[in-house]
Amino acid sequence: MVTRSRTHAVSVLSWFPLFTLAALLLIPRYSATAQQRPRLGENSIAEVIDAMTVEEKVKLLVGMGFIADIPMLPPVDPEHAKVPEKVPGAAGRTHAIPSLGIPSLTLSDGPAGIRIDPVREDDPDRSYHATAFPVATLMASSWDTSLVRAVGKAFGREAREYGVDILLAPAMNIHRNPLGGRNFEYYSEDPLLSGSLAGAFVDGVESEGVGTSPKHFAANNQEFNRMKSNTLVSERALREIYLKGFEIAVRASQPWSVMTSYNLINGTYTSESRELLTTILRDEWGFAGFVMTDWFGGSDPVAQMNAGNDVLMPGYPQQTQGILEAVARGTLSEAQLDENVERVLRVVLQSPTFKGYEYSDQPDLAGHAQIARRAATEGMVLLKNEDHALPLPPSGTVALFGNASYDLIVGGTGSGDVNEAYSVSLDAGLVDAGYVVEASLQDEYRRYIPDQKAQQPEPPMPFLPPPPIPELAVEADRVIRLSREADVAVITLGRNSGEFTDREPDNDFSLTDTEHALIRSVSTAFRAAGKKVIVVMNVAGVIEVASWRDYADAMLLAWQPGQEGGNAIADVLRGKVNPSGKLPMTFPMTYADVPSADNFPGTVLPGEADQAAPSISGVPTEVTYDEGIYVGYRYYNTFGVEPAYAFGYGLSYTQFDYSDLQLSASECDDEITVTVVVSNIGATPGREVVQLYLSAPGDALDKPESELRAFAKTGLLHPGESETVTFTMAGTDLVSFDTERAAWIAEAGTYTVKIGASALAIRQQAAFDLPQELIVEQAHNVLVPQVPIDERTIRGR
Ligand code: BGC
Repeated sequence: MVTRSRTHAVSVLSWFPLFTLAALLLIPRYSATAQQRPRLGENSIAEVIDAMTVEEKVKLLVGMGFIADIPMLPPVDPEHAKVPEKVPGAAGRTHAIPSLGIPSLTLSDGPAGIRIDPVREDDPDRSYHATAFPVATLMASSWDTSLVRAVGKAFGREAREYGVDILLAPAMNIHRNPLGGRNFEYYSEDPLLSGSLAGAFVDGVESEGVGTSPKHFAANNQEFNRMKSNTLVSERALREIYLKGFEIAVRASQPWSVMTSYNLINGTYTSESRELLTTILRDEWGFAGFVMTDWFGGSDPVAQMNAGNDVLMPGYPQQTQGILEAVARGTLSEAQLDENVERVLRVVLQSPTFKGYEYSDQPDLAGHAQIARRAATEGMVLLKNEDHALPLPPSGTVALFGNASYDLIVGGTGSGDVNEAYSVSLDAGLVDAGYVVEASLQDEYRRYIPDQKAQQPEPPMPFLPPPPIPELAVEADRVIRLSREADVAVITLGRNSGEFTDREPDNDFSLTDTEHALIRSVSTAFRAAGKKVIVVMNVAGVIEVASWRDYADAMLLAWQPGQEGGNAIADVLRGKVNPSGKLPMTFPMTYADVPSADNFPGTVLPGEADQAAPSISGVPTEVTYDEGIYVGYRYYNTFGVEPAYAFGYGLSYTQFDYSDLQLSASECDDEITVTVVVSNIGATPGREVVQLYLSAPGDALDKPESELRAFAKTGLLHPGESETVTFTMAGTDLVSFDTERAAWIAEAGTYTVKIGASALAIRQQAAFDLPQELIVEQAHNVLVPQVPIDERTIRGR
């Protein structure tokens, strides 16, 4: 291969007679033949950019298009559509520019596994299934960064072996409201937990040589009219709640890319906001990768380029045209395009495709299934366990109720879905674990479910979650009969959700009448027969529990546990794994208690309501985050609203004792080291999530009662064993965003360290002083709301 570096070219030119040199200078750079052009990897990025025509630059920045038969989408360039996909079913690809040695990158969803087509027309004898890992909310419930890193590595290997360059994950928007349709793809209501886990996931995936794209940046906390929804949010809430997780992940793990969200923040599309993408993401946080849009996100490609949203996905011809026209008119500088291109090329250089990685199309699916099973057990949360209802005895007959027992919901719908080869239902998992599943009930559910599914209408649009099939109503007499024959009752409640729609307060957040009736009748009959009732919650998000939990002896929150779900639930039910998950969000008593209940999902703007909706883009909508920083436990704890289950809550089959909290100093100069001893005082080996909450002075700024500032998970502690858990706190762990000064400050005064088994179960506490205010970081007043936001404060409402 001939390398044509610029130095080399100059020395050659110097031998030429003058007229030849003059002639050469008159020839446009880009008319050189392919062999003479610089090549990525052999020449510097600057040289490659220098050799690119404007058309080539724009080509690199606008994706190759989305091949789908969906009428409301912009058309794909017919030329691009002809280029065979390297990985059929992957969400998107960038253009190759072969004459410069730039390959096309393949981008694939998503947060629960690699979403690609499982079968290929040209290769009908093989399948391309991917592992359905547990959803992100379950992973967050593990509170285990090492586990998330290990799972990320498995994602990375699987993506790489299927020829994918960038994984469109982790998804990490904050659970602002339990009805958010994509909450299952997201981690938590808390930014520290979200950011730490997202960073661990990025590290895991990228350690395998595949890129990530934390998404959706930012303040994208609902699906309603998602492409036209304007999030009105204060600078402080934005910084402390909605950006913080991204900040943590970006600073710690430097992902290859970041995906902007569909919504606007304070009047500007996130993908068109230079303040968000340049001032905050790059200048303040030091992000060095490229930014891509969400699919068809934003409206003005020129503003996107100027903002630093380098790549438009999936890309369509009007965007290319708009950018080229703007360059010709001079409203978009070529220098700006060069910056965008440079950031993309830096990532291309690292990609498996550029490196010529010979992918096998044969990831270790069996090995990854085992990782998925283990991860699922680590993130399930035991919410209730009266009189040692769990673990189940090692054998016996289970009367298994609930559609989801036989048709487990392993993950959500939309781009967070995965085409897995198989999934394990709970009845299969229990049988495999040695239990007898009562046969008459099993037969009936197995007939009922396919029959109901066959009657379901086609969804109006691909990707939408299917309507749930009604819960099978089992007559009371039959339940009584079963309570005599079986040893225990297990009832599974199922909930699904996904892109484009949010969940509903009725019959979704709350239980349906049939579900209520089923729980009541099973509970009455089985308890009368001296038998236990276990409820398994196979849900995409938070549901109402307060009205029915008294009927259950034990409740296991299994979330959407991935393809090995039935086995994983059985592992926990029978005590093969001792549950150690804790809630990454609060379970409220009622939906009305949720701080954003009155303002979710916002309002359609006047005059717009009559437009055709729901279309793919929806109509202009506005949502005001008037709860400010009081999201989740920050609200419940500060305003004394009792939750059904607190943030951080979760039981174990053993008990833990906390002792000997020590602070390395009583005043914080630079750092404070916090140690606490956690001991297993029960009879079963187990792991405990240790949470450090901090109460700050709150004299100058309104402060939540306390905030999670660190967490750790112990190793497996055998009965009688202890572990000393150590946390290090620095100035950055004490701060709040002071909007007036556009700075992260730590107020002077007394700080209380609270070590908890949940946000409400504080086991040990100690205080230290900060003698003087610290200005930890100067930031900028950007993304300022157009109108002041009337926020909830402790002093106000
Ligand atoms: C979703 C993204 C996803 C993209 C590509 C969009 O609809 O919001 O999360 O990565 O599609 O599938």
